[in-house]
Amino acid sequence: MGLLDRLIVWTLPFVPKPLVRYFSKKYVAGETLEDALTLVRQFHRDGYLCTLDVLGEFIHTPAEAEAAAQLYKDILTTLSEEGLNTSVNVSVKPTQMGLLLDKELCYSILRDLAVTAQAHGNFVRVEMEDSQCTSDTIEVYLRLREEFSNVGLVLQAYMRRTLKDAQRIMAAGGGHFRLCKGIYIEPRTVAYKERGLINRNYVRVLEEMFRQGAYVGIATHDETLVWEAERLIEQYQLAPEAYEFQMLLGVDEELRGLIRENGHRLRVYVPFGEHWYAYCVRRLRENPTIARYALNSLLKNFFKREKRQAPPPQTFAVPALSLKP
Ligand code: FDA
Repeated sequence: MGLLDRLIVWTLPFVPKPLVRYFSKKYVAGETLEDALTLVRQFHRDGYLCTLDVLGEFIHTPAEAEAAAQLYKDILTTLSEEGLNTSVNVSVKPTQMGLLLDKELCYSILRDLAVTAQAHGNFVRVEMEDSQCTSDTIEVYLRLREEFSNVGLVLQAYMRRTLKDAQRIMAAGGGHFRLCKGIYIEPRTVAYKERGLINRNYVRVLEEMFRQGAYVGIATHDETLVWEAERLIEQYQLAPEAYEFQMLLGVDEELRGLIRENGHRLRVYVPFGEHWYAYCVRRLRENPTIARYALNSLLKNFFKREKRQAPPPQTFAVPALSLKP
């Protein structure tokens, strides 16, 4: 961890909650489903797809897992009532559904969710968390896929095992993925640490997925990877319905627009929930790079605004210096 990252981790507990809320506003839709729906309706009008994530993970009791699942069921019902069931799906963290308490409980909760989603013509994306969860998450996912086609899985390109996992899952008929780099801090023994290598593995896994005809949510804000993905889409002559790009709410909106302009579908990941504060602080502490990204983006926007507000420097000087009669 670099010095700046360590500084962020040390100072985090002293940052007042309203300030954390201010920083997180761009990235978290709010506390309630209505907050999230307001955003999602707008994205829908603008032609974007969305996925809703209820903030929270690593619950401590089965009752907490059941309560989180109920919230997701309510979301699926509401999306259906609003006619958003084909453009807005849900993303679920297995630990929030009890994976670390009881794998069987997690399976049965996720199965229940898949049934509800199916009844509403919707889809459940099972997310991937840290490496202690990888094998169990894949096992639960493959069991679900035996019964349901409306569930998909996230794989992380930084994991050394991912190419083999992808091949195994596709061989079992479970090829509906979101491919991301991976956000958790992992030891070198399980994950690639070097950015260039992670990117090369991302492209390698993505190509294997395309080659085998899997549906992929290409989840990245890294323009190099977007370029590589577009190259592969062209090479494999994929129709726009055969894949989608995915980006987090609030991150690089310019790139989001550019991807859309190039004729691709784009899904925005919209997190919300009353546990936003604990969630943000924990994630920032786990991975301070995210705080650095947010700070960079905030400063960039601030200076952009300042530049827009300042009068153009030449406006007054040029006529005064003009030698023309
Ligand atoms: P990279 O980290 O190189 O970022 C490229 C640029 O994007 C940065 O320079 C920065 O400007 C900007 N950026 C990236 N992330 C930012 C952020 N959070 N805030 C502000 N700016 C940011 N991970 C995981 O382990 N399991 C999961 O299930 C998911 N799910 C998921 C869904 C979706 C839709 C996305 C887009 C991402 C995830 N992730 C995830 C997170 C993912 O693994 C990864 O950590 C981030 O997307 C950052 O990686 P990039 O590919 O964007 O590249």
